[in-house]
Amino acid sequence: MEIKKVGVVGCGLMGHGIAQVSAQAGYDVVVAEASQEKLDSGIGKITKQLGRAVEKGKMEQDAADEILGRIQGTLDLEDFADCDLVVEAVTEDLDLKLEIWKKLDEVVKDEAYFATNTSSLPVINMAAATNRTEQFLGLHFFNPVQVMPLLEVIQSVTTGTDAIDVGLGFGEKLGKKTVHTKDKAGFIVNRLLVPYLLDGIRGLEEGIGSIDEIDAAMKAGAGHPMGPLTLADFVGLDTLMSISNVMYDEFRERRFAAPPTLRKMVAAGFYGKKSGRGFYDYSGDKPVSVNPGL
Ligand code: CAA
Repeated sequence: MEIKKVGVVGCGLMGHGIAQVSAQAGYDVVVAEASQEKLDSGIGKITKQLGRAVEKGKMEQDAADEILGRIQGTLDLEDFADCDLVVEAVTEDLDLKLEIWKKLDEVVKDEAYFATNTSSLPVINMAAATNRTEQFLGLHFFNPVQVMPLLEVIQSVTTGTDAIDVGLGFGEKLGKKTVHTKDKAGFIVNRLLVPYLLDGIRGLEEGIGSIDEIDAAMKAGAGHPMGPLTLADFVGLDTLMSISNVMYDEFRERRFAAPPTLRKMVAAGFYGKKSGRGFYDYSGDKPVSVNPGL
């Protein structure tokens, strides 16, 4: 089946980016949020990104208007009825995701494909809540979606080859580098990246360097665009903790366990860049490191 209309559930950090790149690739997009305020904020981010592209001379105003015109915002999942592919990008809360998938399974046409953007939860747990387990796959994007070239296409134990081909084709049309991987917690990237970020936090706890020194060292010494503590803030400390909990549950290895400092920062509401404070304070012109009081 040719994919023409894409539904995106969630217009937050990941969802707004997925909606934007899908519309840029020519798909009609419907994007849902739980409240008008959140929807306005997500669509506002897309409008801003497109505006910047026009300012930089990378896009004509007409093209930006057309892309925005292809995106319909909604608060009602009933508007997903005629979607060919639905991508879910809500917070990493399995109960919430299951509730959404059950509703979507009722309202979306039977032949449509379903994909979750989960970063670590088992795809099969969500697929099993629907009556289309063969058409259910994982499509894992990276933040910022507009910039990061990778799309992980995840095959659960029930995903059919048709669904994988749809995922790979969708990724290619978005201009992404696709990799086909298995439904194991963390897939490829987080399996390797998450223990590294957690080790950055453990290194801070053990005093190998300050926040600034650890970040500067990995940028200058390993050529990374961001140091591990900046990247942890960027991913979101709450998200990092929930990924590490899922991975620890699955593998029972210390390298996947959330260090105490991460747990305490999340308990304090320090979620990183999105909340204004994590290992850095983002309230000023430039982020300033804040020792989490180890
Ligand atoms: N949204 C859209 N575009 C953005 C953006 C955003 N949030 N942030 C930056 N950009 C664009 C800029 O507009 C700029 O575009 P142009 O080249 O067209 O001008 C380009 O990206 C480069 O941006 P900057 O010059 O401002 O900054 P930079 O060169 O420092 O790059 C970065 C910023 C791309 C984020 C870079 O620091 C980077 O690659 N960081 C690592 C990001 C990363 O590892 N992401 C994966 C996280 S893990 C994950 O997402 C999965 C998970 O499950 C946890």
